[in-house]
Amino acid sequence: MKICIDEFRQRRKQLLRQLPENSIALVPAASMKTRNRDAEYAFRQDSDFYYLTGFNEPDALLVLMPGGSEGESILFCPPRDATMEIWTGYRAGPEGCIHDFGMDQAFNLDQLDEQMPALINGKAALCYAQGSDAGLDAKVASWLNTLRAKVRLGFSLPEQTLVLDKWLHELRLFKSEAELQVMQQAAELSAQAHCRAMQLCCPGMMEYQLEAIIQQHCAMAGARFQAYSPIVGGGVNACILHYIDNNAVLKDGDLVLIDAGCELDNYASDITRTFPVNGHFSEAQKLLYQLVLDTQEACIDAIRPGVPWGDIHELSVRLLTQGLLQLGLLQGELDALIKSEAYKPFYMHRIGHWLGMDVHDVGRYKDADAWRPLQPGMVMTVEPGLYIAPDNQEVDSCWRGIGIRIEDDVVVTESGHLVLTAGVPKSIAGIEALMRRGDGE
Ligand code: GLY
Ligand code: MN
Ligand code: MN
Repeated sequence: MKICIDEFRQRRKQLLRQLPENSIALVPAASMKTRNRDAEYAFRQDSDFYYLTGFNEPDALLVLMPGGSEGESILFCPPRDATMEIWTGYRAGPEGCIHDFGMDQAFNLDQLDEQMPALINGKAALCYAQGSDAGLDAKVASWLNTLRAKVRLGFSLPEQTLVLDKWLHELRLFKSEAELQVMQQAAELSAQAHCRAMQLCCPGMMEYQLEAIIQQHCAMAGARFQAYSPIVGGGVNACILHYIDNNAVLKDGDLVLIDAGCELDNYASDITRTFPVNGHFSEAQKLLYQLVLDTQEACIDAIRPGVPWGDIHELSVRLLTQGLLQLGLLQGELDALIKSEAYKPFYMHRIGHWLGMDVHDVGRYKDADAWRPLQPGMVMTVEPGLYIAPDNQEVDSCWRGIGIRIEDDVVVTESGHLVLTAGVPKSIAGIEALMRRGDGE
């Protein structure tokens, strides 16, 4: 399932309808990035640009101009070039941009400096993500200076420069049926990959071997890239939130935390599971794990339209703090502990984030000062965790060095919510049963 070209056209129309009258909006494509010397990273299109075009070539520029019945979409693209296409592959060129990508007009990139001052001339507002692409900032400055030099000839500059994000990112926050289908596929694939890692895990393996199992499973099904660098942390490494070294031995008796999710057609999935390297939770691991799991399930249950985003985080804080109190990792009175943020040494991140084309997806979390209410079509992660630092002398030694996070991807629906990542077990019994079955199934 891929997003069809008509949906990309609809997205441009929706954005064009919202832009101020007589404005012009610019959305740049990503560029190739050097890894070392002349080797490049795999190309990943800019999410804003891809959302509006479905066009996967570097360095292009989308120009949107509201007006007329539907507004206008213009794409500046790399030129057709027989020699370059032998080296780096097919290019659509301006004709392809019009025929295959539904643009109203298209030009070769080498026409930017000639066309852009003329397109900007006389517009009331220029909308783009200022400051996020230094190359575009410099080009915009030069196009404006070209116009400035011609003011005596009747040319004029936009009076306002506006940030495009507020319209574009609000559109991206609400996922269509087609987007949800792609995200469901990505989530299922990642869930299967996590299951494989659980089944194949045993003491003595390296963290990077679990990473390889995850990547291989996703890549074999067509998701060649992960949405972010996988985190595979055994034992105390699970207490490092963004641990990506993934180069330690997995030890008998330790837990391992895997936070990994593939990307499919530029949509992310994001799953965390924590499980025992040898297939059996110890008593201390069980107690902490069950607390994180109960919290995660209660937070997912609370998701429905109208609930303020911040309430889900506050619920996680209350439940984790209560549990830490019951287990003796904190002492005192519940409300006072919450107020003084006594949980922060153990739970230092928030409950989750929007999920979409970017793993930490775009979209406002607050309206003015208030957390915004959840609405159907939003997709979020729910990922509470507890991390007991190995050198925390304030807690009993049986807890030290345990790190646990459980993360699922959740769609807000009309009637409540839908978990996209339910395909990988998270109950203690479910994980132990899957690990017992091992490689044989
Ligand atoms: N994988 C990054 C995160 O969970 O936020
Ligand atoms: Mn996440
Ligand atoms: Mn994650």
